[in-house]
Amino acid sequence: MNKQKIIILDFGSQYSQLIARRIRENKVYCEILPYNISISKLASLEPMGIFLSGGPASVYAAGAPVCDPGIFHLGVPVLGICYGMQLMAHLLGGKVEPTPTREYGIAKLYLDKGDTVLGAAENFSVWMSHGDSVSKAPAGFESIAHTDNLAIAAMVDVKRRLFGLQFHPEVVHTPSGKEIIANFLFQVCGCSLSWTMRSFVEHSIDQIRNKVNDGLVICAVSGGVDSSVLAALIHKAIGRQLKCIFVNNGLLRKNEAKEVIDMFRNDICINLDYVDAEDRFLSKLTDIEEPELKRKIIGNEFISVFQEEAEKFDDAKFLAQGTLYPDVIESGGISSGPAATIKSHHNVGGLPERMNLKLIEPLRDLFKDEVRMLARELGLPDKVIKRHPFPGPGLAVRIIGAVNKERLEILRKADAIFIDELRSANMYDKVWQAFVVLLPIRTVGVMGDERTYDQVIAVRAVTAEDAMTADWAQLPYDLLGKISSRIINEVKGVNRVVYDISSKPPSTIEWE
Ligand code: XMP
Repeated sequence: MNKQKIIILDFGSQYSQLIARRIRENKVYCEILPYNISISKLASLEPMGIFLSGGPASVYAAGAPVCDPGIFHLGVPVLGICYGMQLMAHLLGGKVEPTPTREYGIAKLYLDKGDTVLGAAENFSVWMSHGDSVSKAPAGFESIAHTDNLAIAAMVDVKRRLFGLQFHPEVVHTPSGKEIIANFLFQVCGCSLSWTMRSFVEHSIDQIRNKVNDGLVICAVSGGVDSSVLAALIHKAIGRQLKCIFVNNGLLRKNEAKEVIDMFRNDICINLDYVDAEDRFLSKLTDIEEPELKRKIIGNEFISVFQEEAEKFDDAKFLAQGTLYPDVIESGGISSGPAATIKSHHNVGGLPERMNLKLIEPLRDLFKDEVRMLARELGLPDKVIKRHPFPGPGLAVRIIGAVNKERLEILRKADAIFIDELRSANMYDKVWQAFVVLLPIRTVGVMGDERTYDQVIAVRAVTAEDAMTADWAQLPYDLLGKISSRIINEVKGVNRVVYDISSKPPSTIEWE
């Protein structure tokens, strides 16, 4: 497997991962690499084809990212997108100039000549986003399409199998983009449908067995989709050599610990090592109000508890980690720079060094949606696959202000009512995430003839494709009404419910 590989050289485009997703949707394996990879390294990977991504720079600017021009002489098909096309033109003797009016948005593309990659349609809509463009194609190329603003919107050198597209085929706003990418992969590069979850599972099992031999692997599980898939895959490879540890930090939802244990034992058939560490976590959190401090305390305590538990398996040699491809790309320094820390996420980072364990990361080639596909391939139940994400610090970041047992109890009851109603209304699978937040204020109410002075619950539901951006979900008013009256009637200590109508950005999904 993975013999057939497409390489995407990243010039800093915000769409590089999208190109990768589109290629993989076509069942072809691909990797994103930095634009300045050496030609010998690139050649040693034996790619079937190379994509040059877009990027924010101008090819003439000082310090503009430039790949080794030898790429065009490897005999491998190359498709340059936007900046990638301009760089191809620039390096091969064409001319690139600022476009008189910056083009951003949908444009109509007119085909001047039928072509393998663009197909035969006479015109179609494409998505443009550029300041420069190719004004003269290099020798050997011909221009094959134009728009109202651009004489050369696509160019090709059929003999050398080099293609340049000024528009972005990878975004949904170019409706025939998927077909264009498929044409390049199958008609030009000669790829076949080789990237399937079945082949991934077979390949991963071999790899895990070879790496682990007869050693023990330990794995932290939470019931979330990533760690469940990680455990199920490794378990399929090495069975009882896998030891799963589930830490209850006391910040889980109503019945969650029991549900996770049952799910592992009955649905995934893995016996868990369960650690009830509620008191340890809650005593460390007493009077802590500051969100980042809460996160750090919980993260550190998790590492301590996990380490103590894992040390009981003194012959353990490996630690399984659910690293995904976006993490690999970011930590490889391919993305455009260090992002500000908005929230410190906690994971098992730091553990392998402290415990002298080797890492095994079988999901590191996968995007999040591929993890869900893998879950299906492994036969995991819908309750795992469709489970909403839940943050590592759990309910602590949904209680604004100090966390204690009493406030956790209120939050758990209200949360369970909300999720129950969402499921009854068949809305659970339609939102990315749904939960409630307990606010640190009291408001006046009237119940019966009595004045109340009680707490406020905020209800949050968001839709999203990934958690980078999100919209508040437009839940039906009657559903919201039912949720509100159930929470106020059934949860003692709450007399007001509000609905959060903020999107991300500028808000975030969780409140802390
Ligand atoms: P925010 O609140 O940053 O959350 O918009 C984006 C997504 O990440 C989840 N989240 C976490 N997940 N550990 C996790 O594993 C964490 O510490 C953490 N904090 C937030 C959040 O629920 C949402 O899906």
